[in-house]
Amino acid sequence: MLAGNSIGKEFTVTSFGESHGKCVGVVVDGCPAGLPLSEADVQAELDRRIPLQPKIVSERIEKDVVQILSGVFNGFTTGAPISMTVENKETKPSDYEAIKDLPRPGHADYPARIRYGDFNDYRGGGRFSGRVTVALIMAGAVAKKLLSTYDVDVLAYTKAIGQVKMGKLLGYDEIRKRTYKAAVRCPDLVCAKAMEEAIVNARKEGDSLGGIIECIALGVPAGIGEPLFDSLDADIAKMLLSVPAVKGVEFGEGFGAAELKGSENNDAYLVQDGKVVTQTNNAGGILGGLSSGMPIVVRVAVKPTSSIAKEQHTVNLAKMENAKLKVTGRHDPCVVPKAVPVVESAVAIVLADHMIRAGAIPKVLKERK
Ligand SMILES: Cc1cc2nc3c(=O)[nH]c(=O)nc-3n(C[C@H](O)[C@H](O)[C@H](O)COP(=O)(O)O)c2cc1C
Repeated sequence: MLAGNSIGKEFTVTSFGESHGKCVGVVVDGCPAGLPLSEADVQAELDRRIPLQPKIVSERIEKDVVQILSGVFNGFTTGAPISMTVENKETKPSDYEAIKDLPRPGHADYPARIRYGDFNDYRGGGRFSGRVTVALIMAGAVAKKLLSTYDVDVLAYTKAIGQVKMGKLLGYDEIRKRTYKAAVRCPDLVCAKAMEEAIVNARKEGDSLGGIIECIALGVPAGIGEPLFDSLDADIAKMLLSVPAVKGVEFGEGFGAAELKGSENNDAYLVQDGKVVTQTNNAGGILGGLSSGMPIVVRVAVKPTSSIAKEQHTVNLAKMENAKLKVTGRHDPCVVPKAVPVVESAVAIVLADHMIRAGAIPKVLKERK
């Protein structure tokens, strides 16, 4: 049984579909009625997933077209479950037939085979494929629309690819404007070029790269979250660690806080324009599992793609002997650029859930009362 495909308490998201099945899809339940929503809204988010730069992404470039099957009537959500699908058109199961018994090091093939035996759909990584993140983008589109009614804005961008790190500090508007101008989704366009080159070079060597994505949520009011076990940071971390290839999550100063003194790490309070703010934001906008009213800042570490053309040691599970493997087929030499909108969507979904749980009423609905 593949349980564990739903997340959220009030705004719930259920993901379904595999890399080489008919479609990938999602059911979003708990979205209030009266939210304007169209296929074009969701499509716009899907279109941001695949950078149109063939040098840095897998050759599996699909035009993902969303179909909303339920939950929307006359351009507004009805309050019923919203189900959405995207067809898988560019499947190529032959790429995987030869390596069916040769688990790719670093991918989910081996533990999935042990867990699900011969029933495991290994084609394209099946349920463990990055393609499944299309579901998060679709659900994220709904979450982001809902959050916009609370004036909450979520933005993610690439902060590092391999050793190439973005040093420059940019304002939110610059991040918003420039991130999607670069195929690697880094708003510092000079650094973006160096990142792109690093990916191209890694690919030439039959290798891959990882990186760091930062996500910032603006406008989240103070006091959102459900301590203890549904703390806002705990729920965001769980969601982000569910994104394939994400191996680490940190908020604000994160692991760096371990090296600071209390006097350096504490964010001192200040009254500014009649509002309580903090002078710094080492906490990343969350204290005690509740939002502090400061921007929520979270970073994820994304590992280098495991499917690489370089020869590696593996085993032949049918013969139970050692083997060698060069992964051919269509793979991203770095999954970071595609994962940027996924991380943004993932954070938006958790925030939408927690805004509803905190009893916040979306502005559009308030206006109608
Ligand atoms: C958007 C996206 C695209 C991905 N594309 C690939 C890919 O082309 N090849 C690959 O080996 N892994 C890819 N991955 C990562 C694997 O799905 C992931 O490493 C695998 O499921 C094992 O899970 P884990 O790395 O979280 O442990 C992608 C991940 C994401 C988020």
